[in-house]
Amino acid sequence: MPAIDKWPSTKISPEDLLGMAREAARRAYVPYSRYHVGAAMLFEDGSVVQSCNVENASYGITICAERAGVVIMVSQGKRNPLAIAVTGSHEDRDDYLKIECPPCGACRQALMEFNTNMLVVLASKDGAKVYELKKLLPHSFSLDPD
Ligand code: THU
Repeated sequence: MPAIDKWPSTKISPEDLLGMAREAARRAYVPYSRYHVGAAMLFEDGSVVQSCNVENASYGITICAERAGVVIMVSQGKRNPLAIAVTGSHEDRDDYLKIECPPCGACRQALMEFNTNMLVVLASKDGAKVYELKKLLPHSFSLDPD
């Protein structure tokens, strides 16, 4: 079954969620890479958590938009995102909704913790594309494997 057919029954479309990720990307703190990433996570009750990447002069402690989202979501008492949209673009460009920004490996693992059935919405030249997180991170680490 294509991932899009697993989209939850909600008023928010994959395109809508991508638009919210883009809005968050505008708020990114990225003085070093100037690469803005935004994420938007959708929950069962229709609520959305937006997040962006936050860099630091000590480069290695930069936090990606997706993991920032995980921290915000848990802090707000939320645990089970149904879907996440991720969008990114360099400051000199304005093509967030056209170029893919797939989550890095660390973020895939961080997201997997909270819903192995999560859907991932990425931009493409042909519009929003929906993927399954478990297909983007096969054979992921778990303390309790099947
Ligand atoms: N970044 C994210 O926010 N998410 C990812 O999945 C990969 C990379 C950020 C980190 C850094 O601020 C910038 O993109 C360039 O690497």
